[in-house]
Amino acid sequence: MKGILKNSLLTAAALPALASAACISSGDQNTINNALQSGGNGAVVQLCANAVIQISSQISFTADNQEISTEGYPTGSTRGTIQVAPGSSASTLIYGKNFNNIRIKNIQLDGNRPGAGLFPGGAANIEIGGFTTGQTVSNVASKNPRGWSCLHAIGSGDDNNPCKNVTIINNDIGPCGQSGTDANGNAQWADGVSLDCTNSLVQGNTINGPTDGGIVIFGSPGSTVTGNTIISSPDYVGFGAINMVDPEYGGSYAGVSVTNNNIQGQKLFNLGIGIGANAWSFNDPSPLKGPATITGNTITGHVSFPIAINGWTNGITITGNTVSGVTNPKSSFADASHCSSAVQSVFNQNANLIYYPPGVTGPQNLQSGFVAAPGNVTNFLCSSPPLPNSVSFNAGSLTIGPDTGPFADLHGVIAQYQGDNNVVVLQNGSPVWASGHTLSQGCNGGCQLRFDSSGNLGTYFNGAVQWSTNTGGRGKTMVVINTAPWIQIKDGSGAVIWDTTKST
Ligand SMILES: *[C@@H]1O[C@H](CO)[C@@H](O)[C@H](O)[C@H]1NC(C)=O
Ligand SMILES: *[C@@H]1O[C@H](CO)[C@@H](O)[C@H](O)[C@H]1NC(C)=O
Repeated sequence: MKGILKNSLLTAAALPALASAACISSGDQNTINNALQSGGNGAVVQLCANAVIQISSQISFTADNQEISTEGYPTGSTRGTIQVAPGSSASTLIYGKNFNNIRIKNIQLDGNRPGAGLFPGGAANIEIGGFTTGQTVSNVASKNPRGWSCLHAIGSGDDNNPCKNVTIINNDIGPCGQSGTDANGNAQWADGVSLDCTNSLVQGNTINGPTDGGIVIFGSPGSTVTGNTIISSPDYVGFGAINMVDPEYGGSYAGVSVTNNNIQGQKLFNLGIGIGANAWSFNDPSPLKGPATITGNTITGHVSFPIAINGWTNGITITGNTVSGVTNPKSSFADASHCSSAVQSVFNQNANLIYYPPGVTGPQNLQSGFVAAPGNVTNFLCSSPPLPNSVSFNAGSLTIGPDTGPFADLHGVIAQYQGDNNVVVLQNGSPVWASGHTLSQGCNGGCQLRFDSSGNLGTYFNGAVQWSTNTGGRGKTMVVINTAPWIQIKDGSGAVIWDTTKST
């Protein structure tokens, strides 16, 4: 209310004709940016209910105490919408770094990734934080970011003068991102909420369809994450629901409390709550530090590793969490055959609460049911939806470049075309067959693997054959299987005319 009063006084003094501060029903980013600019400190800029504003560059707060909201503060589909226009250079919709007490309330933000495309290196839909205190995002919908997060509160970078007291409440976030990489190798996953500020509150949000972390806590000492619902996408794998795995603030999670959140795995979450420097895909040499509290959370459905801790010290309390609703057995919804043997062991035991005892030091209060991993379990992101035992390609249906990921991803086995022109089959991570004919000078962009329309499988450098099965004119189907002989070529009658026991 203070902001509204201040704004109307300022407006009345400077621009009497606009004293009514009418809501915005049309326009673009300039309409909103001009209102923030002219309104100054405390300006409240409101969209009209049902307004849809398309933007081609970002909207930026310009002073402390400003607000962007919908008139009347509706909470449903009548909230004003801001959407990135196709062809736009924007990834962030609203930028509010380094201004105190700004508020984003009761609006809908659509990064429009389906229409405007993935933005490699792009930022979050909402970018706030920095050298600030008192920022609020409430009753906001944020979905389809072109960049890496639906909502990012960044730290200041100065631990002596940190970002403080961000309030992120009652928002509906997602979907955020997709799984895997695009044809150019760009990561497509995105976070729901990425919090890098101290003494902050993330409460009552619904995060539906994050594909990286649902709520990522970057240290954020003193922060509370409570009463949120985090649901994995029905279509895409999510890496984790709540992450406590990053080393900001010198690795400190002191006073962080994660309570009464509800995590639901649909297609798949790899991790429910991941805790520690060695739980994610990277391994920081130093453990992360508490004391932190994880209590009263409920985890259900398709979650491979509901709570896992490795790489932690200085205090952890994990009590009163409910994991009985996690789907059992895990092999009914996930495959861990590409994980390390220690991770496979806890997966095969259907363990829901996992720790590596040497990797958790200092005071600890762990609820009953924690299973000790038999080795240093690092990287819990290794599970996937169930994998097949074989895959077939028709003649003409496989043409790939090197280092484009496995062309066959099977239970226990992958087959891939490497950057040295080698076709390699790996079982549990160890090579079991290779085509050879490697190029010591590397591919320099000139390599290709083809199972071509004549039925020949071969590798090529600048168009010249390097290795081939010599099955042109006879081959119809190529089958990759997770047992020897790994690759077969069959003719039209189904007879095997080549396999890896026949070198060429
Ligand atoms: C945190 O910010 C909110 C406004 O978002 C304010 O009401 C509250 O008093 C602040 N708390 C502290 C401790 O500064
Ligand atoms: C587990 O492995 C990680 C990565 O190699 C290492 O940093 C960490 O120190 C290991 N943990 C223990 C307790 O040895």
